[in-house]
Amino acid sequence: MRLLNRDDWYDIGRDLDWTLTYVDHAEAFPDSWSGNGVVPAAAWDAWDEPYRVTYHDYVSVQREKEGGAHAVREALKRANIFHKLDPAHTASSQMHMGTTCMVEQMAITMQSRFCRFAPTPRWRNLGVYGMLDEIRHTQLDMAFSHDLLKDDQSFDWCQKAFHSNEWAVIAIRNFFDDVMLNADCMEAAIATSLTVEHGFTNIQFVALAADAMEAGDIDFSNLLSSIQTDESRHAQCGFPAVEILMKHDPKRAQHIFDVSFWRSFRLFQTLTGISMDYYTPLHQRKMSFKEFMMEWVVTQHERTIRDVGLQKPWYWDEFLACLDHGHHAMQLGTWMYRPTLFWNPNAGVSRAERKWLNSKYPGWEDSWGVIWDEIIRNVNDGAAEKTVGATLPALCNVTHLPIGAHWDRHHVSKQMSVYKGRTYYFDSNVSKWIFDSNPERYAGSTNVVERFLAGQIQPMDLGGAVQWMGLTPDVMGDDAYKYRWAAEYKSPVPMAAE
Ligand SMILES: [Fe+2]
Ligand SMILES: [Fe+2]
Repeated sequence: MRLLNRDDWYDIGRDLDWTLTYVDHAEAFPDSWSGNGVVPAAAWDAWDEPYRVTYHDYVSVQREKEGGAHAVREALKRANIFHKLDPAHTASSQMHMGTTCMVEQMAITMQSRFCRFAPTPRWRNLGVYGMLDEIRHTQLDMAFSHDLLKDDQSFDWCQKAFHSNEWAVIAIRNFFDDVMLNADCMEAAIATSLTVEHGFTNIQFVALAADAMEAGDIDFSNLLSSIQTDESRHAQCGFPAVEILMKHDPKRAQHIFDVSFWRSFRLFQTLTGISMDYYTPLHQRKMSFKEFMMEWVVTQHERTIRDVGLQKPWYWDEFLACLDHGHHAMQLGTWMYRPTLFWNPNAGVSRAERKWLNSKYPGWEDSWGVIWDEIIRNVNDGAAEKTVGATLPALCNVTHLPIGAHWDRHHVSKQMSVYKGRTYYFDSNVSKWIFDSNPERYAGSTNVVERFLAGQIQPMDLGGAVQWMGLTPDVMGDDAYKYRWAAEYKSPVPMAAE
Protein backbone atom coordinates (compact mmCIF):
# COMPACT_ATOMS: atom_id res chain seq x y z
CA MET A 1 0.00 0.00 0.00
CA ARG A 2 1.38 3.40 -0.91
CA LEU A 3 1.39 5.96 1.88
CA LEU A 4 0.37 9.53 1.15
CA ASN A 5 2.98 12.23 1.45
CA ARG A 6 2.68 14.23 4.64
CA ASP A 7 1.73 17.43 2.82
CA ASP A 8 -1.21 15.64 1.16
CA TRP A 9 -2.96 14.89 4.44
CA TYR A 10 -1.44 17.25 7.00
CA ASP A 11 -4.00 20.05 6.65
CA ILE A 12 -6.93 17.64 7.07
CA GLY A 13 -5.32 16.03 10.11
CA ARG A 14 -4.59 19.25 11.93
CA ASP A 15 -8.03 20.67 11.27
CA LEU A 16 -9.89 17.79 12.88
CA ASP A 17 -12.90 19.54 14.34
CA TRP A 18 -16.68 19.24 14.29
CA THR A 19 -19.79 21.21 15.20
CA LEU A 20 -20.96 20.35 18.68
CA THR A 21 -24.59 19.35 19.01
CA TYR A 22 -24.93 17.92 22.53
CA VAL A 23 -23.42 20.95 24.30
CA ASP A 24 -23.04 24.63 23.60
CA HIS A 25 -19.69 25.63 22.18
CA ALA A 26 -19.32 28.18 25.00
CA GLU A 27 -19.78 25.42 27.56
CA ALA A 28 -17.22 23.14 25.95
CA PHE A 29 -14.74 25.97 25.45
CA PRO A 30 -15.42 28.44 28.27
CA ASP A 31 -13.84 31.82 27.78
CA SER A 32 -12.14 31.58 31.16
CA TRP A 33 -10.12 28.63 29.82
CA SER A 34 -9.68 29.48 26.15
CA GLY A 35 -9.17 33.23 26.67
CA ASN A 36 -10.81 33.79 23.30
CA GLY A 37 -12.39 37.08 24.40
CA VAL A 38 -13.46 39.30 21.51
CA VAL A 39 -11.70 37.28 18.80
CA PRO A 40 -14.31 36.15 16.19
CA ALA A 41 -14.40 32.40 15.50
CA ALA A 42 -13.45 32.87 11.83
CA ALA A 43 -10.20 34.64 12.83
CA TRP A 44 -8.75 31.32 13.97
CA ASP A 45 -8.59 30.11 10.36
CA ALA A 46 -5.47 32.27 10.10
CA TRP A 47 -3.68 30.36 12.91
CA ASP A 48 -0.79 28.69 11.22
CA GLU A 49 1.99 26.90 13.03
CA PRO A 50 5.50 27.84 11.97
CA TYR A 51 6.64 24.20 11.99
CA ARG A 52 4.86 21.10 10.77
CA VAL A 53 5.10 17.98 12.80
CA THR A 54 3.34 14.63 12.73
CA TYR A 55 3.13 12.13 15.54
CA HIS A 56 5.25 9.68 13.57
CA ASP A 57 8.03 12.24 12.97
CA TYR A 58 7.81 13.54 16.50
CA VAL A 59 8.26 10.13 18.10
CA SER A 60 11.22 9.16 15.96
CA VAL A 61 13.04 12.48 16.54
CA GLN A 62 12.36 12.44 20.29
CA ARG A 63 13.47 8.84 20.53
CA GLU A 64 16.83 9.82 19.03
CA LYS A 65 17.17 12.75 21.44
CA GLU A 66 16.37 10.64 24.45
CA GLY A 67 18.82 7.96 23.32
CA GLY A 68 21.56 10.59 22.96
CA ALA A 69 20.91 12.27 26.31
CA HIS A 70 20.84 8.99 28.22
CA ALA A 71 23.90 7.56 26.47
CA VAL A 72 25.93 10.57 27.68
CA ARG A 73 24.37 10.23 31.13
CA GLU A 74 25.35 6.56 31.42
CA ALA A 75 28.90 7.13 30.19
CA LEU A 76 29.44 10.01 32.63
CA LYS A 77 27.94 8.10 35.53
CA ARG A 78 30.72 5.56 35.09
CA ALA A 79 33.37 8.30 34.79
CA ASN A 80 32.28 9.75 38.17
CA ILE A 81 32.63 13.25 36.80
CA PHE A 82 30.81 15.01 39.64
CA HIS A 83 33.79 14.95 42.01
CA LYS A 84 35.99 16.67 39.45
CA LEU A 85 33.73 19.72 39.12
CA ASP A 86 34.38 23.15 40.57
CA PRO A 87 32.10 23.62 43.63
CA ALA A 88 30.98 27.02 42.37
CA HIS A 89 29.72 25.48 39.15
CA THR A 90 27.97 22.69 41.07
CA ALA A 91 25.82 25.37 42.71
CA SER A 92 24.51 26.35 39.25
CA SER A 93 23.28 22.86 38.48
CA GLN A 94 21.69 22.39 41.92
CA MET A 95 19.96 25.73 41.68
CA HIS A 96 18.73 24.89 38.19
CA MET A 97 17.32 21.50 39.21
CA GLY A 98 15.49 22.80 42.27
CA THR A 99 14.03 25.86 40.58
CA THR A 100 13.23 24.41 37.16
CA CYS A 101 12.15 20.76 37.42
CA MET A 102 8.70 21.47 38.82
CA VAL A 103 8.22 24.37 36.41
CA GLU A 104 8.59 21.75 33.66
CA GLN A 105 5.96 19.71 35.50
CA MET A 106 3.61 22.71 35.63
CA ALA A 107 4.19 23.24 31.91
CA ILE A 108 2.75 19.76 31.26
CA THR A 109 -0.55 20.98 32.72
CA MET A 110 -0.39 24.21 30.74
CA GLN A 111 0.25 22.37 27.48
CA SER A 112 -2.53 19.89 28.26
CA ARG A 113 -4.89 22.87 28.55
CA PHE A 114 -3.83 23.92 25.06
CA CYS A 115 -4.76 20.36 23.94
CA ARG A 116 -8.21 20.68 25.43
CA PHE A 117 -9.22 24.36 25.41
CA ALA A 118 -7.22 26.21 22.74
CA PRO A 119 -9.59 27.97 20.33
CA THR A 120 -8.39 26.16 17.20
CA PRO A 121 -7.83 22.43 16.53
CA ARG A 122 -4.43 23.24 15.03
CA TRP A 123 -3.18 24.62 18.33
CA ARG A 124 -4.87 21.81 20.28
CA ASN A 125 -3.05 19.32 18.07
CA LEU A 126 0.36 20.90 18.71
CA GLY A 127 -0.34 21.11 22.42
CA VAL A 128 0.00 17.32 22.51
CA TYR A 129 3.64 17.52 21.42
CA GLY A 130 4.31 20.36 23.85
CA MET A 131 2.85 18.26 26.66
CA LEU A 132 5.01 15.27 25.74
CA ASP A 133 8.05 17.58 25.57
CA GLU A 134 7.45 18.85 29.09
CA ILE A 135 7.03 15.32 30.47
CA ARG A 136 10.43 14.51 28.97
CA HIS A 137 12.02 17.63 30.54
CA THR A 138 10.70 16.84 34.00
CA GLN A 139 11.91 13.27 33.75
CA LEU A 140 15.35 14.27 32.47
CA ASP A 141 15.82 16.62 35.45
CA MET A 142 14.69 13.88 37.81
CA ALA A 143 16.96 11.24 36.27
CA PHE A 144 19.98 13.56 36.28
CA SER A 145 19.41 14.57 39.89
CA HIS A 146 18.70 11.03 41.01
CA ASP A 147 22.08 9.88 39.67
CA LEU A 148 23.80 12.53 41.78
CA LEU A 149 21.90 11.97 45.02
CA LYS A 150 24.59 9.59 46.23
CA ASP A 151 27.14 12.41 45.89
CA ASP A 152 25.15 15.33 47.23
CA GLN A 153 21.79 15.55 48.99
CA SER A 154 21.13 18.99 47.47
CA PHE A 155 19.96 17.17 44.34
CA ASP A 156 17.04 15.87 46.39
CA TRP A 157 15.69 19.41 46.05
CA CYS A 158 15.04 18.76 42.37
CA GLN A 159 11.83 17.13 43.53
CA LYS A 160 11.52 18.62 47.00
CA ALA A 161 11.93 22.36 46.35
CA PHE A 162 8.42 23.10 45.10
CA HIS A 163 6.91 21.31 48.08
CA SER A 164 8.80 23.58 50.48
CA ASN A 165 8.53 27.21 51.60
CA GLU A 166 12.03 28.14 50.46
CA TRP A 167 11.76 31.87 49.63
CA ALA A 168 13.26 31.81 46.09
CA VAL A 169 11.05 28.85 45.23
CA ILE A 170 8.00 30.77 46.48
CA ALA A 171 8.91 33.62 44.10
CA ILE A 172 9.18 31.21 41.16
CA ARG A 173 6.11 29.18 42.08
CA ASN A 174 4.05 32.35 42.45
CA PHE A 175 4.96 33.50 38.94
CA PHE A 176 4.41 30.17 37.19
CA ASP A 177 1.21 29.44 39.10
CA ASP A 178 0.07 32.75 37.66
CA VAL A 179 1.18 32.46 34.03
CA MET A 180 0.89 28.70 33.51
CA LEU A 181 -1.77 27.33 35.84
CA ASN A 182 -3.94 30.39 36.41
CA ALA A 183 -3.75 31.65 32.84
CA ASP A 184 -6.19 31.02 30.00
CA CYS A 185 -4.76 29.76 26.70
CA MET A 186 -4.29 33.22 25.18
CA GLU A 187 -2.54 34.58 28.21
CA ALA A 188 -0.33 31.49 28.54
CA ALA A 189 0.58 31.79 24.83
CA ILE A 190 1.92 35.32 25.36
CA ALA A 191 3.26 35.08 28.92
CA THR A 192 4.75 31.60 28.69
CA SER A 193 5.25 30.51 25.06
CA LEU A 194 6.31 33.89 23.68
CA THR A 195 7.90 35.57 26.69
CA VAL A 196 9.31 32.85 28.94
CA GLU A 197 10.01 30.06 26.46
CA HIS A 198 10.94 32.05 23.38
CA GLY A 199 12.35 35.12 25.10
CA PHE A 200 14.13 33.82 28.16
CA THR A 201 14.80 30.08 28.12
CA ASN A 202 17.63 30.67 25.67
CA ILE A 203 19.51 32.44 28.40
CA GLN A 204 19.00 29.64 30.90
CA PHE A 205 19.50 26.76 28.51
CA VAL A 206 21.94 28.09 25.90
CA ALA A 207 24.15 30.33 28.05
CA LEU A 208 24.22 27.94 30.97
CA ALA A 209 24.84 24.97 28.66
CA ALA A 210 27.87 26.76 27.19
CA ASP A 211 29.20 27.61 30.67
CA ALA A 212 28.57 24.04 31.90
CA MET A 213 30.45 22.60 28.93
CA GLU A 214 33.41 24.90 29.65
CA ALA A 215 33.30 23.88 33.30
CA GLY A 216 33.58 20.21 32.26
CA ASP A 217 30.00 19.33 33.25
CA ILE A 218 29.16 17.58 30.00
CA ASP A 219 26.17 15.79 31.56
CA PHE A 220 24.42 18.98 32.65
CA SER A 221 25.30 20.77 29.41
CA ASN A 222 23.92 17.87 27.38
CA LEU A 223 20.68 17.82 29.38
CA LEU A 224 20.15 21.58 28.92
CA SER A 225 20.80 21.47 25.19
CA SER A 226 18.50 18.49 24.70
CA ILE A 227 15.66 20.32 26.49
CA GLN A 228 16.25 23.54 24.59
CA THR A 229 15.70 21.88 21.21
CA ASP A 230 12.11 21.14 22.34
CA GLU A 231 11.57 24.57 23.92
CA SER A 232 12.59 26.46 20.82
CA ARG A 233 10.09 24.36 18.82
CA HIS A 234 6.98 24.46 21.02
CA ALA A 235 7.60 28.10 22.03
CA GLN A 236 6.66 29.02 18.47
CA CYS A 237 3.00 28.23 19.19
CA GLY A 238 2.92 31.66 20.82
CA PHE A 239 3.45 33.59 17.57
CA PRO A 240 0.26 32.80 15.63
CA ALA A 241 -1.81 33.28 18.81
CA VAL A 242 -0.29 36.71 19.44
CA GLU A 243 -0.72 37.75 15.83
CA ILE A 244 -4.45 36.99 16.03
CA LEU A 245 -4.92 38.75 19.36
CA MET A 246 -3.02 41.78 18.05
CA LYS A 247 -5.58 42.13 15.25
CA HIS A 248 -8.59 42.01 17.57
CA ASP A 249 -7.47 43.15 21.04
CA PRO A 250 -3.97 44.69 20.86
CA LYS A 251 -4.30 46.43 24.22
CA ARG A 252 -4.80 43.13 26.03
CA ALA A 253 -1.89 41.50 24.18
CA GLN A 254 0.44 44.38 25.07
CA HIS A 255 -0.61 44.33 28.71
CA ILE A 256 0.01 40.58 29.09
CA PHE A 257 3.38 41.02 27.42
CA ASP A 258 4.46 43.99 29.58
CA VAL A 259 3.54 42.17 32.82
CA SER A 260 5.13 38.85 31.93
CA PHE A 261 8.31 40.37 30.50
CA TRP A 262 9.12 42.19 33.75
CA ARG A 263 8.30 39.26 35.99
CA SER A 264 10.23 36.77 33.83
CA PHE A 265 13.20 39.09 33.59
CA ARG A 266 13.40 39.56 37.35
CA LEU A 267 13.43 35.80 37.93
CA PHE A 268 15.90 34.94 35.20
CA GLN A 269 18.09 37.78 36.41
CA THR A 270 18.07 36.30 39.90
CA LEU A 271 18.86 32.76 38.78
CA THR A 272 20.81 32.94 35.53
CA GLY A 273 22.38 36.30 36.34
CA ILE A 274 24.19 35.05 39.41
CA SER A 275 24.96 31.65 37.83
CA MET A 276 26.73 33.31 34.90
CA ASP A 277 28.53 36.18 36.62
CA TYR A 278 29.38 34.64 40.00
CA TYR A 279 29.09 30.83 39.97
CA THR A 280 30.81 30.07 36.66
CA PRO A 281 34.56 29.85 37.34
CA LEU A 282 36.22 33.00 35.99
CA HIS A 283 38.44 31.40 33.35
CA GLN A 284 35.46 29.48 31.98
CA ARG A 285 33.07 32.39 31.50
CA LYS A 286 32.07 32.92 27.90
CA MET A 287 29.97 36.08 28.18
CA SER A 288 28.66 38.22 31.00
CA PHE A 289 24.96 37.96 31.84
CA LYS A 290 24.43 41.46 30.46
CA GLU A 291 26.24 40.69 27.19
CA PHE A 292 24.15 37.55 26.73
CA MET A 293 20.95 39.43 27.54
CA MET A 294 21.83 42.18 25.06
CA GLU A 295 22.48 39.70 22.28
CA TRP A 296 19.86 37.03 22.92
CA VAL A 297 17.02 38.89 24.57
CA VAL A 298 17.30 42.60 23.85
CA THR A 299 18.29 42.40 20.19
CA GLN A 300 16.58 39.18 19.14
CA HIS A 301 13.46 39.44 21.22
CA GLU A 302 13.08 43.13 20.33
CA ARG A 303 12.97 42.14 16.66
CA THR A 304 10.49 39.36 17.39
CA ILE A 305 8.06 41.54 19.29
CA ARG A 306 8.22 44.16 16.56
CA ASP A 307 7.45 41.47 13.97
CA VAL A 308 4.25 40.48 15.77
CA GLY A 309 3.25 44.13 16.20
CA LEU A 310 3.94 44.56 19.92
CA GLN A 311 5.68 47.61 21.34
CA LYS A 312 8.63 47.54 23.70
CA PRO A 313 7.31 47.62 27.28
CA TRP A 314 6.80 51.18 28.57
CA TYR A 315 9.48 50.64 31.25
CA TRP A 316 12.23 49.72 28.75
CA ASP A 317 14.74 52.31 30.09
CA GLU A 318 14.27 51.06 33.63
CA PHE A 319 14.67 47.49 32.41
CA LEU A 320 18.04 48.41 30.84
CA ALA A 321 19.18 50.12 34.06
CA CYS A 322 18.09 47.08 36.07
CA LEU A 323 20.08 44.87 33.71
CA ASP A 324 23.27 46.53 35.00
CA HIS A 325 22.48 46.06 38.66
CA GLY A 326 19.67 43.75 39.72
CA HIS A 327 21.56 40.47 39.70
CA HIS A 328 24.46 41.97 41.66
CA ALA A 329 21.97 42.96 44.35
CA MET A 330 20.48 39.46 44.26
CA GLN A 331 23.94 37.89 44.47
CA LEU A 332 24.74 39.91 47.57
CA GLY A 333 21.36 39.04 49.09
CA THR A 334 21.46 35.32 48.33
CA TRP A 335 25.05 34.97 49.56
CA MET A 336 24.25 36.85 52.80
CA TYR A 337 21.21 34.66 53.39
CA ARG A 338 23.06 31.48 52.40
CA PRO A 339 21.45 29.28 55.11
CA THR A 340 18.15 29.84 53.26
CA LEU A 341 19.50 28.23 50.06
CA PHE A 342 19.75 24.55 49.18
CA TRP A 343 23.09 25.00 47.42
CA ASN A 344 26.47 26.46 48.43
CA PRO A 345 26.75 29.88 46.77
CA ASN A 346 30.05 31.23 45.53
CA ALA A 347 30.81 34.81 46.61
CA GLY A 348 32.65 35.38 43.31
CA VAL A 349 34.48 38.50 44.47
CA SER A 350 38.14 37.50 44.59
CA ARG A 351 40.42 40.25 43.28
CA ALA A 352 40.53 38.76 39.78
CA GLU A 353 36.75 38.24 39.71
CA ARG A 354 36.21 41.78 40.91
CA LYS A 355 38.37 43.13 38.11
CA TRP A 356 36.23 41.19 35.63
CA LEU A 357 32.99 42.47 37.21
CA ASN A 358 34.21 46.07 36.99
CA SER A 359 35.19 45.63 33.36
CA LYS A 360 31.73 44.29 32.48
CA TYR A 361 29.74 46.58 34.80
CA PRO A 362 31.47 49.94 35.29
CA GLY A 363 29.24 50.93 38.25
CA TRP A 364 29.88 47.69 40.15
CA GLU A 365 32.56 48.94 42.57
CA ASP A 366 30.63 52.01 43.60
CA SER A 367 27.41 50.14 44.20
CA TRP A 368 28.46 46.72 45.44
CA GLY A 369 32.21 46.70 46.07
CA VAL A 370 31.89 48.81 49.21
CA ILE A 371 29.45 46.33 50.75
CA TRP A 372 31.63 43.36 49.84
CA ASP A 373 34.61 45.16 51.44
CA GLU A 374 32.76 45.19 54.74
CA ILE A 375 31.94 41.48 54.35
CA ILE A 376 35.58 40.69 53.55
CA ARG A 377 36.74 42.58 56.64
CA ASN A 378 34.41 40.55 58.82
CA VAL A 379 35.45 37.25 57.23
CA ASN A 380 39.13 38.07 57.68
CA ASP A 381 38.51 39.12 61.29
CA GLY A 382 37.15 35.63 61.93
CA ALA A 383 33.58 36.93 62.23
CA ALA A 384 31.91 35.23 59.26
CA GLU A 385 28.72 34.92 61.32
CA LYS A 386 28.34 38.73 61.04
CA THR A 387 28.01 38.35 57.27
CA VAL A 388 24.77 36.36 57.54
CA GLY A 389 21.57 38.44 57.48
CA ALA A 390 19.94 38.31 60.90
CA THR A 391 16.49 39.63 60.01
CA LEU A 392 14.40 39.02 56.92
CA PRO A 393 14.55 41.64 54.13
CA ALA A 394 11.34 43.40 53.05
CA LEU A 395 9.82 41.55 50.10
CA CYS A 396 7.82 42.69 47.09
CA ASN A 397 4.15 41.70 46.96
CA VAL A 398 4.34 41.00 43.23
CA THR A 399 7.77 39.48 42.52
CA HIS A 400 8.37 38.16 46.07
CA LEU A 401 11.97 39.33 45.66
CA PRO A 402 13.73 41.63 48.15
CA ILE A 403 12.90 45.32 47.94
CA GLY A 404 15.97 47.29 46.90
CA ALA A 405 17.23 44.52 44.64
CA HIS A 406 16.41 45.78 41.17
CA TRP A 407 18.73 48.75 40.74
CA ASP A 408 21.92 50.11 42.33
CA ARG A 409 22.10 51.02 46.00
CA HIS A 410 21.41 54.71 45.18
CA HIS A 411 17.97 53.94 43.75
CA VAL A 412 16.17 52.30 46.63
CA SER A 413 12.69 53.75 46.64
CA LYS A 414 9.60 52.91 48.61
CA GLN A 415 6.70 51.90 46.37
CA MET A 416 3.38 50.99 47.92
CA SER A 417 -0.35 50.74 47.27
CA VAL A 418 -3.29 50.38 49.59
CA TYR A 419 -6.02 47.99 48.47
CA LYS A 420 -9.06 47.08 50.57
CA GLY A 421 -7.35 48.40 53.69
CA ARG A 422 -4.14 46.41 53.29
CA THR A 423 -0.80 48.01 52.36
CA TYR A 424 1.26 46.31 49.67
CA TYR A 425 4.95 47.00 49.03
CA PHE A 426 6.88 46.69 45.78
CA ASP A 427 10.46 46.36 44.60
CA SER A 428 9.97 48.86 41.75
CA ASN A 429 7.43 51.15 40.16
CA VAL A 430 6.98 48.49 37.45
CA SER A 431 5.86 45.89 40.02
CA LYS A 432 3.56 48.51 41.55
CA TRP A 433 2.06 49.17 38.11
CA ILE A 434 1.49 45.42 37.66
CA PHE A 435 -0.34 45.24 40.98
CA ASP A 436 -2.40 48.41 40.42
CA SER A 437 -3.52 47.23 36.99
CA ASN A 438 -5.24 44.16 38.48
CA PRO A 439 -5.07 44.22 42.30
CA GLU A 440 -7.55 41.41 42.82
CA ARG A 441 -5.21 39.04 41.04
CA TYR A 442 -2.29 39.67 43.42
CA ALA A 443 -3.96 40.77 46.64
CA GLY A 444 -4.58 37.30 48.05
CA SER A 445 -1.00 36.09 48.31
CA THR A 446 1.23 36.73 51.28
CA ASN A 447 4.99 36.90 51.13
CA VAL A 448 7.43 35.31 53.57
CA VAL A 449 7.75 38.47 55.70
CA GLU A 450 3.97 38.75 56.03
CA ARG A 451 3.76 35.09 57.04
CA PHE A 452 6.51 35.76 59.55
CA LEU A 453 4.67 38.74 61.01
CA ALA A 454 1.46 36.70 61.15
CA GLY A 455 3.26 34.28 63.48
CA GLN A 456 3.34 31.35 61.02
CA ILE A 457 7.12 31.05 61.44
CA GLN A 458 8.31 29.97 64.89
CA PRO A 459 10.62 30.77 66.55
CA MET A 460 10.56 34.23 64.97
CA ASP A 461 14.20 34.38 63.92
CA LEU A 462 16.37 33.24 61.01
CA GLY A 463 16.70 29.76 62.54
CA GLY A 464 12.91 29.43 62.67
CA ALA A 465 12.60 30.71 59.11
CA VAL A 466 15.19 28.24 57.81
CA GLN A 467 13.36 25.38 59.49
CA TRP A 468 10.03 26.61 58.11
CA MET A 469 11.58 26.66 54.62
CA GLY A 470 12.39 22.95 54.98
CA LEU A 471 16.18 23.34 54.94
CA THR A 472 18.08 20.66 56.80
CA PRO A 473 21.74 20.96 57.89
CA ASP A 474 22.93 18.55 55.15
CA VAL A 475 21.80 20.86 52.33
CA MET A 476 21.78 24.30 53.98
CA GLY A 477 23.95 26.73 52.02
CA ASP A 478 27.39 27.90 53.06
CA ASP A 479 30.16 29.64 51.12
CA ALA A 480 31.20 27.36 48.23
CA TYR A 481 34.94 27.77 48.94
CA LYS A 482 34.66 27.98 52.73
CA TYR A 483 35.79 31.64 52.58
CA ARG A 484 39.26 30.82 51.21
CA TRP A 485 38.85 33.52 48.52
CA ALA A 486 38.83 36.28 51.17
CA ALA A 487 42.36 35.52 52.42
CA GLU A 488 44.07 37.35 49.54
CA TYR A 489 42.56 40.61 50.85
CA LYS A 490 44.60 40.31 54.05
CA SER A 491 47.65 41.60 52.19
CA PRO A 492 47.74 44.96 50.40
CA VAL A 493 46.91 45.05 46.70
CA PRO A 494 50.02 44.27 44.63
CA MET A 495 51.02 47.38 42.60
CA ALA A 496 50.59 45.60 39.24
CA ALA A 497 47.02 44.64 40.07
CA GLU A 498 45.91 48.20 40.98
FE1 LIG B 1 10.26 22.48 29.23
FE1 LIG C 1 8.36 24.55 27.44
